[in-house]
This record gives sequence, structure tokens and C-alpha cells, in this order.
Amino acid sequence: MAGLVYDLLLYIPISLVIFFFIVRTSRRRRLRLPPGNLGLPFVGETLQLIAAYKTENPEPFIDERVNKFGPIFTTHVFGEPTVFSADPETNRFIVQNEGKLFECSYPGSISNLLGKHSLLLMKGSLHKRMHSLTMSFANSSIIRDHLLVDIDRLVRLNMDSWTDRIFLMEEAKKITFELTVKQLMSFDPGEWSESLRKEYVLVIEGFFSLPLPLFSTTYRRAIKARTKVAEALSLIVRQRRKESNESGGEKKNDMLEALLATGDGGFSDEEIVDFLLALLVAGYETTSTIMTLAVKFLTETPLALAQLKEEHEEIRAKKMMGREGLEWSDYKSMPFTQCVVNETLRVANIISGVFRRAMTDIDIKGYTIPKGWKVFASFRAVHLDHDHFKDARTFNPWRWQSNSGATSPGNVFTPFGGGPRLCPGYELARVELSVFLHHLITRFSWVPAEEDKLVFFPTTRTQKRYPIIVQRRN
Ligand code: HEM
Ligand SMILES: *[C@@H]1O[C@H](CO)[C@@H](O)[C@H](O)[C@H]1NC(C)=O
Ligand SMILES: *[C@@H]1O[C@H](CO)[C@@H](O)[C@H](O)[C@H]1NC(C)=O
Ligand SMILES: *[C@@H]1O[C@H](CO)[C@@H](O)[C@H](O)[C@H]1NC(C)=O
Repeated sequence: MAGLVYDLLLYIPISLVIFFFIVRTSRRRRLRLPPGNLGLPFVGETLQLIAAYKTENPEPFIDERVNKFGPIFTTHVFGEPTVFSADPETNRFIVQNEGKLFECSYPGSISNLLGKHSLLLMKGSLHKRMHSLTMSFANSSIIRDHLLVDIDRLVRLNMDSWTDRIFLMEEAKKITFELTVKQLMSFDPGEWSESLRKEYVLVIEGFFSLPLPLFSTTYRRAIKARTKVAEALSLIVRQRRKESNESGGEKKNDMLEALLATGDGGFSDEEIVDFLLALLVAGYETTSTIMTLAVKFLTETPLALAQLKEEHEEIRAKKMMGREGLEWSDYKSMPFTQCVVNETLRVANIISGVFRRAMTDIDIKGYTIPKGWKVFASFRAVHLDHDHFKDARTFNPWRWQSNSGATSPGNVFTPFGGGPRLCPGYELARVELSVFLHHLITRFSWVPAEEDKLVFFPTTRTQKRYPIIVQRRN
């Protein structure tokens, strides 16, 4: 009896493996897939992917396969066959055809953390409407007229508490969170926002508990924390509903107000909470990481730091007489800063690319991507490609001074994606980073407290949260 069970246990996987290979080879002949390796059945090349990113090289997995197969190749990661693209034209085709040929696709574990009414998961006409609402909430005239004052004030407020040794990544995260809470629902930083952030950090950790979320305590803790964050937010939503119903109340100028005022019949509390929570997620790690890495790269490139200092001292000198606060015209007179911003986004792109799912069989560059397959458009692979950027793996902000920074024509620089899902926070992130750099550079000098390495997996960041010793300048 036991023998039979063992035989079956052995037999079933083996026959599945054989079946898998037959199906695979026959489909492949029919469809002309991009070249590549599907690796072992079921796990595919997931283990190679994870092992590869433990090195210091930013794109080991993709580099190796691009060298072997070219910029479009097939692999099998996280349980599914996937076509990877390191080709700018193909990437553009993928993001531009969102909703027509491709649609975004996240694993269930991520959807549960985000909430089903988040912009990242919405599709179709609802997505279109909410995407444009989000865009108009953070467009440049809104930033100029409303958001900049608070960005400037809250960055300075946070820096007031810096002494001696700080973890720059931690401070950048606090700043980013405080800014988002202010922009979404008009709260100034305080105990409330800090305790919300503590829960919120646990939610974020859940996103990186892949690839086995259901077995992970981090993931379970994240789901619990999500419930708490959602409760805190829905309390705010209910209060605001009541306030805005009472006549004579002053209308606040924030995202929550816009959400309460939109929609036929309006959105439910749950919808608004999911939507706000996703905005908190989208801007948090991304903007704070880019703040930290810009400082790291500048510290390691003294000439660039000196030039940046000059630019910002000049702005500060003009302001000495009166107010310290930055204005839009100041932001617009930071040309070298914008080069630093672009170069940081290029060299250390935190969103390395985007996953999509093919909605139908798609022919591209002589290959077919079968319906239902995943595709990964890698922006980072393009940004770090020597064909598109000279000495692509070196931080060189001056490359942006002459032309588009790239050595090849066409749009090869897409740190914020593109098409219908273009990051609605692209301008906001740039302004926040610029203001942050302005105040850091004009108020402090600093040295790294310890050596800290850049790592690229599971996210792009420095290993030790970038500890620095700061000294206030006069
Ligand atoms: C350096 C900072 C940032 C980077 C590099 C970045 C990058 C990106 C990228 C590449 C996408 C496209 C995802 C896709 O196509 O599937 C995206 C989407 C998004 N970003 Fe950002 N982002 C940043 C900051 C922000 C900020 C500050 C906000 C806050 C408003 C924000 C809100 C969003 C939202 C809501 C989406 C989803 C859009 C949609 O699916 O329609 N991001 N971001
Ligand atoms: C920004 O959005 C507002 C609405 O929130 C709109 O009135 C304005 O025209 C937009 N500005 C730009 C530059 O798109
Ligand atoms: C808002 O006021 C209207 C009447 O002006 C009332 O019918 C409605 O129940 C109120 N809603 C809330 C949430 O208090
Ligand atoms: C930075 O990149 C953006 C594209 O994201 C581009 O529009 C802008 O001109 C670049 N800035 C500089 C200074 O090259």
C-alpha cells in the first residue's frame, strides 16, 4: 500500500513534467516565441533570478540573457512564463497599449494589500477617469499654487530636528510620508501621522515578502496593519464628510476633498480609503529612495556636489533679505539640479520596470507573445544600456546638459513609465527632491558615517539606510 502511494507520488510529478515539456515544445513551434529558457518546470528561472540579484551588478539576470538571446527573451519566473523586454521600442509599445493589448497584472497577495479600489488595480473607463483626477491633483499649476508652500515648509521642519548622526533614508521616508499625508488630507505632521506611519511601514514590508506571501509572518502582519491603517483613514473620511456637509465650513484644498466631490452618487468610504492608501504606497519608497540615492551619488561625485552647491547658494543669496521659502520661480532656476534628478532616476531606477499581461496573441518584432502570458518591460535595462547612454553605469549628471542625455534617438528615458498609466506623481516627485536637495545643501554639510553599499534586490536601496554625520552651516 505504502509502496503504491510512493509510486504515485513519484509518477504524478514525472508525468506532469513530461506533459509540460510536450505542451511547451508544441506551443513554441506554433507561436515563434522570443528565444530563451523556461528553466525547470514550475519554478522556472526564479531561483536564478533571486540568486543573480544578490550581487552588486544592477541587472545581472537581464544582462546575461540579453547577451545570449537579444533584448526580447522568454523566461519563467514567479510561477509563470514571462517575456522580458530590454528594448525601448517594445517597452513603449507595451505601456502605450495598456487596456488594448496589455493590462496591468499583480499577484493576489499584492492586490489584497493595495485594496481593490486602488488606482493601480483599476481598469477601463473608471481607471481613465481616476487617473486624470490624480494627474490634475498633482499637476504643475497645482504644485506651484498650492503644494509647494507646504513641501518647502515641511522639509525645513523635518530638518530642524537633525543633529549629529542620522539615517538619511529614515528621515527621507518621514518627510515623504508627512508630505503625502498633508497633500491627501491636510494633516500637519504630529503624533497621529507618526503612529499611522509605524503601521504603514508594516504594510510596505508585506509587499516584499514575495515570492511566498502566504507562508510568511511578515505578510500576515502586513494584512493586519493594513486593516488598522484603513480604519484610521476611514475615520478621517467620515469626519470630513460630516464637516463638508455642514454649511459654512471652509472647503479644504486636498485630494480627499476632490474625491468627496467627484463621482455620480459619490464614492463609498471603502473606495476612498483604498484610493488614498494606494497613493501613500506609490509615492513613499520611490521618492524617499531617490532622495537618499541622490545624496549618496553626489557625495561620491564631489565635482557635481560643488556645482550643485553653487546653484543653490545663488538662490539662497537672493533670498537672504526676506523670506526663506522657495517659490516656483526658484524651482525653475535649478537647471543643474534637474540634471542630477534625471541622472539619479536613470542610474538607480527604483521601479525597474512594469509587469503586464497579454490580452490576446501579440506579434512584435517577429515574435509572438501568447495570450495570457506575462510581459515585463524593463526600463532599467534600457537606462543602463551602453547603446543608449554612454558609460551607462556611471553617475554623470552633466550628460543631461547637452541633449536628452541619451546617445540614441527616441524616448529611451522612462523612469515614470508611460501611456495611460504614466506616473501621476512625476512632477511632484521631482519638485520634492529638488526642494529637499536645496535645503540639505544650503543648511548642512555631511559625511557618510559608515561605508554603505547600493543593492538592487528586493528593491533598490542602500544596505544600511545611509547613515551620515551632519553639521549645520551658518
Ligand atoms: C521617484 C519617484 C517615483 C517614481 C520613480 C515613480 C514611478 C512610477 C512608475 C514607473 C509608474 C507606472 C507603473 C505602471 O505602469 O504600472 C508609477 C505609477 C504610479 N505612481 Fe509613481 N513614481 C514616483 C513617485 C510617485 C508619487 C510621489 C506619487 C504620488 C502621487 C505617485 C503615484 C503613482 C500612482 C498613483 C501610480 C499608478 C498609476 C496608474 O496605475 O494609473 N508616484 N509610478
Ligand atoms: C491642473 O489641474 C487643474 C484642475 O485641478 C486644472 O484647472 C489646470 O488647468 C491643470 N493645469 C495643467 C497645467 O494641466
Ligand atoms: C448631509 O446633509 C443632507 C441634508 O442636507 C442629509 O440628507 C445627509 O444625510 C447628510 N449626510 C451626512 C453624512 O451627514
Ligand atoms: C529630464 O527628463 C525628462 C523626462 O523624464 C525630460 O523631459 C527633461 O528634459 C530632462 N531634463 C533635463 C535637464 O535634461
